[in-house]
Amino acid sequence: MLRSILATAALALAAMPLVHAQELAATPPMGWNSWNHFEAKVDDKTVREIADAMVSSGMRDAGYVYVNIDDTWEGERDAQGNIRTNGRFPDMKALADYVHGKGLKIGIYSSPGPKTCAAYEGSYKHEQQDARTYAAWGIDYLKYDWCSASKVYPRSDMPKVYKLMADALQATGRPIVYSLCQYGLDKVWEWGAASGGNLWRTTGDISDRWKSMESIGFKQNGLEKYAGPGHWNDPDMLEVGNGGMTATEYRAHMSLWSILAAPLLAGNDLRSMTPETLGILTNREVVAIDQDTLGKQGYRVAQDGASEVWAKPLAGGNWAIGLFNRGPETARVTVHWRDLGLSGKHRVRDLWAHQDRGSHKDEFWYQVPSHGVVLLRVK
Ligand code: GLA
Repeated sequence: MLRSILATAALALAAMPLVHAQELAATPPMGWNSWNHFEAKVDDKTVREIADAMVSSGMRDAGYVYVNIDDTWEGERDAQGNIRTNGRFPDMKALADYVHGKGLKIGIYSSPGPKTCAAYEGSYKHEQQDARTYAAWGIDYLKYDWCSASKVYPRSDMPKVYKLMADALQATGRPIVYSLCQYGLDKVWEWGAASGGNLWRTTGDISDRWKSMESIGFKQNGLEKYAGPGHWNDPDMLEVGNGGMTATEYRAHMSLWSILAAPLLAGNDLRSMTPETLGILTNREVVAIDQDTLGKQGYRVAQDGASEVWAKPLAGGNWAIGLFNRGPETARVTVHWRDLGLSGKHRVRDLWAHQDRGSHKDEFWYQVPSHGVVLLRVK
């Protein structure tokens, strides 16, 4: 009896971190991050205005809740070693309270190295202390970026170094989403979850260009088995609305990220986005593909030159299908049901047009513009 009680307790304990992770990021995290648009030009006022815009634009109600401050908020440590903000962030606790007051959550950024990538103060040898500070401020999300850690640790220590901060965060008792950023080195998808990560970057930095987005996004094929509730592959933040791609290309970007069950972290200036940008980011039917509760990452099922068909299994036996055209001319892209292991007739809905397209046997095709997508839900 006693032995079985003990065994049950041991099992429950072993399962604890996982339960914690799943509750925290049951579906891919959604929100905003300062880096893609603002880089080092982010401050308290901007973050408050972004939080305001997140609510007034309807982004929050579409599911975007994390307001994440990336690199360059850090100041110097005080005499006791406590991390302080720099002059652009006069009071992080007050800022967190403000963001929470809007029904949003707040994220922050650091590095396991002595310095961040932008050469601000990192968390090296201050991991527990920094985790306690974040928790005291009310932080809900930490992006932890390798950067100068390469100067103080051998690469092989990475899993251990990431686990150190995971444990420090957990010890605070505050639920904090933990985002690993080390650019996909050493197959992080194989050990990121064991190091306590809720998500891990799988590639180098994205930029606001079709070439960058496409080379990152379409390279994710094969990583699908590592993603699931509580632990996600992260192909980097969205560039939608930053101006370097066409609306057609941004729809392809948003569609691909949703099929990939990628974190949806908008990277644009939410205070001044066009209705078209807002429409792309908040298309409820597209967001629902990303946030589907089955938690499966999609993959490529067919490729013919520049035409690619990607598919994501959804709850209830549905599928999301992306018909992508990476080429320079309009092309006909066809999905064959047999490539999904399906036969018979299936109902098709176009998620950008918001229209049902009838019931189809064997296959369904579309003329897809250059760099465009047709995103479907198949029932
Ligand atoms: C690295 C990361 C980026 C960003 C910058 C900040 O390049 O990959 O996402 O956080 O650092 O310095």
